[in-house]
Amino acid sequence: MSGRTSIVIFGASGDLTRRKLIPALFSLYCKGRLPEDVQIVGFSRRPYSHEEFRSVLREAAEKFMGDAFHTEQAKWDSFAAMIWYSPGSLKETGDFNTLQRLLVRLEGGPANRLYYLAVGPQLYADAISNLAAADMVAERKGWRRIVIEKPFGHDLASALALNRTVHDVFDERQVYRIDHYLGKETAQNILFFRFANTIFEPVWNRRYVDHVQITVAETVDVGHRAGYYDRSGVLRDMFQNHLLQLLSLVAMEPPASFNADAVRNEKAKVLGAIRPVSLGDTVRAQYHGYCEAEGVAPDSQTPTYAALKLYVDNWRWQGVPFYLRSGKALATKTSEIIVRFQRPPHVMFNLPDPSALVPNMLGLCIQPDEGMHLKFQAKVPDSAQEMRPVDMDFHYRDSFNDQPLPDAYERLLLDALQGDASLFARSDEIELAWGVIDPVLTGWEKSNTPPLAHYAPGTWGPEDAEAFMRRDGRDWWHICGGHED
Ligand code: BG6
Repeated sequence: MSGRTSIVIFGASGDLTRRKLIPALFSLYCKGRLPEDVQIVGFSRRPYSHEEFRSVLREAAEKFMGDAFHTEQAKWDSFAAMIWYSPGSLKETGDFNTLQRLLVRLEGGPANRLYYLAVGPQLYADAISNLAAADMVAERKGWRRIVIEKPFGHDLASALALNRTVHDVFDERQVYRIDHYLGKETAQNILFFRFANTIFEPVWNRRYVDHVQITVAETVDVGHRAGYYDRSGVLRDMFQNHLLQLLSLVAMEPPASFNADAVRNEKAKVLGAIRPVSLGDTVRAQYHGYCEAEGVAPDSQTPTYAALKLYVDNWRWQGVPFYLRSGKALATKTSEIIVRFQRPPHVMFNLPDPSALVPNMLGLCIQPDEGMHLKFQAKVPDSAQEMRPVDMDFHYRDSFNDQPLPDAYERLLLDALQGDASLFARSDEIELAWGVIDPVLTGWEKSNTPPLAHYAPGTWGPEDAEAFMRRDGRDWWHICGGHED
């Protein structure tokens, strides 16, 4: 990467900047991966001086990077020398003019710019129109790109409106919509696993796969984000983005090449082939005690857990259910995808209980047990015909010498700087995903079906979710390691 580049962070005094963006940028800097001539300019309402802003960021990097910061501490001062601050409001064009003057002065000539919207979604439109008003978008002597955080819209109508606002000012090729799940190494590995090997793809279809489960379970409750969460709920917070993105990686057809449009075309086709979800194929629940959290309405009906059964109506997946579940305050933190294969067509062994034959299962473990598990049957030694499922596993930490996995934001920031949008959601993907989720949200609200269930924190969710699987003669599985944090 060459050329002078400015990274401008809107919402620079916020949590995301301190927790994720600065640690990721510092880590890229230490690895020598930032453009040579770069400056990072923060913009927010707090009246920091450049020096105050740098010291706030240093504290944050120390806190959130832990040991990784201490190992690289000697590089902080040269990194901090590239950081600047411009106070202002996203609603004031005048403040953008001031920011523009600072940028022009720092750049001292032609430069590229990455604008990062680390602000609440209610401010996106102001930020975008003020970037245009201050003449900060035209690509006269360098590229201009914008990174937009989730949530991208609150429903389909607002997502369409936001895409229109964005497209009034930016071309789609300049827009990078973040879904941090796509930046996780293990989520990216789904594509490598499927398309850099030959042995899995022939069985990756309705002829061999019985069903797929995607679980994103969290032990944390809504904590200090209750105000935001109570207006969103688990479908908007986790399904519309992360879970549907994981589903599209698992279910997509092989793209012809690994470039942004080829990959995103295939993902969009999957999202577009999802059959409208029947409310009978959904579960929604709230953990006990949720309504007592500060910022939550005392009679809130917001679900903190949901399970959905989806079908992808295409040649490959016809009739194969995809079960998705996610929730807060659950027993274990784990994000895993389980591909459950069919039973052998005929079992020649004399099993006292034929249902004891557990079909093959492949677990793609996204976190925290990054790796894979393949379960298959093996003969119990010194028995006549007894068998037991055993596990063949791969763990990143063992195969890659404990090399730490970079945080998702590192990959995504680097890709945005390099102009590779493969791991970012395109406007049509966002709209198609809302097209799946929106009718469920509306259906829940209008018909109160299914009723909101409740579950005890620290469990695997409501009994209704177990019954939901049992109805289909199946169970939920958790085969990747998790942890209770
Ligand atoms: C965010 C959600 O997008 O993802 C949070 O808003 C959730 O509610 C988080 O906790 C989970 O991310 P991760 O990387 O911890 O699995």
